[in-house]
Amino acid sequence: MKKTLKAAVIGVTAFFVSANATTDGFFKYEVIDALQINEEISTNPNNPLWEKAKSTEVTLYPQVSVRLNDKKANELIPKKEAVKAQVKAIYNDKNIAVYIKWKDNTPSVQPPFTTNQFADGVSIEFPNKFGKGITLPYVGMGDENHPVTVYLQKNVAGRDYQKVFVSKGFGSLTEVDTKNVDIVMTYDEKNKEWTAVFKRPLTDEYTDLKAGLVPIAFAVWDGNQYERDGNKSLSRWKFIRLNKFELDKDYVEYVSWGVPYVDWPEKGEDIGDPENGKKLFQQNGCAACHRAAEFQTAPLGMAPDLSDIGGIANAIYLKESIINPNDVIIRNLNINRHYMKTNPDRFKAYPNNSMYEWYIKTDGKKQSKMPAFTHLQEQDINDLVAYLKTLVDWKNFK
Ligand code: HEC
Repeated sequence: MKKTLKAAVIGVTAFFVSANATTDGFFKYEVIDALQINEEISTNPNNPLWEKAKSTEVTLYPQVSVRLNDKKANELIPKKEAVKAQVKAIYNDKNIAVYIKWKDNTPSVQPPFTTNQFADGVSIEFPNKFGKGITLPYVGMGDENHPVTVYLQKNVAGRDYQKVFVSKGFGSLTEVDTKNVDIVMTYDEKNKEWTAVFKRPLTDEYTDLKAGLVPIAFAVWDGNQYERDGNKSLSRWKFIRLNKFELDKDYVEYVSWGVPYVDWPEKGEDIGDPENGKKLFQQNGCAACHRAAEFQTAPLGMAPDLSDIGGIANAIYLKESIINPNDVIIRNLNINRHYMKTNPDRFKAYPNNSMYEWYIKTDGKKQSKMPAFTHLQEQDINDLVAYLKTLVDWKNFK
């Protein structure tokens, strides 16, 4: 296991040198240009300042990171469509504010003391560390090697449900102080849309956003579609451009590797052949562990479902997942649902079935159960990434 890890690290440095990114499209579709101002930033989305900030469209894809035990919620999943949001950012010397607007015909409030009605909600997240030489976190709320800071607002009756937490993966959250944070979420009845504005200091205890390019990801929950927790719509890592700070060319090259994405209006040349990638996905046994598109035979919960991976994962993250699975190890929250029904322990309890754990621990260090595919040719890896990038829906979800 240790040997493959070393090989994977060498693989990572090798492909940086040969990367040939089309950064124009990247700046056009993946980057949110922040407006720099001198005055105070208003969290009122109707403040005229927000009209001056450039708007960028961000697509959020339905995601199911936790399979709910809820028939009604699960029946809706195959029919779900991506959410298109308009995103803006403003900053001054002290603070940064992020604006997000999206359509929702049915504003849902979670009444107090109910468990079967769910709130609309919205969140943004920033990696706690980013920049040259730092790989991107798991976009579904970070991972052990890549903590993220998450800002969450939910539409719960009777209280301003607002939370900030540092997360090392879904289900591993530490709530932090919100005193420097201001979040406003308002519904526009006429246009049937939500707008949220998140304001925070440029630098705080957890993250320093004083950089030319700041990764950010967005999530929204539609309460009316029974969405909650890991059942939501999620974007991949997008990037806020703060003009005042220098742009690191190496970092741009790294995060823009492998563009374009399926939601871009302009197609352009891909890094590889998705058809061949699909064949490689079968030939290399990926489908034995992962479910995705028409590949639905892997045992449920054996590995992350890749149905929407092309919408929520950045291309470089996909490449790294294939050659260096130990860098990001995703938490499996479904383990408790899989018991060894035939084999109770000495207390007559059914233990978890370790087949559904996504890592093993050697000398206290976690190792992904996914083998590193470092033996593949570079072009084959790129073809696999090109194929994974096409996966954006849950039509085959059962
Ligand atoms: C032995 C089972 C197994 C095989 C075979 C396997 N994987 Fe994985 N894969 C996993 C597990 C478990 C994880 C989650 C743990 C982790 O993060 O490494 C994972 C994670 C991933 C991720 C990250 C998913 C996410 O949601 O961010 C991608 C992408 C991926 N695998 C692609 C592939 C591809 C492509 C292949 C074939 C070349 C493959 N896997 C083969 C078990 C497997």
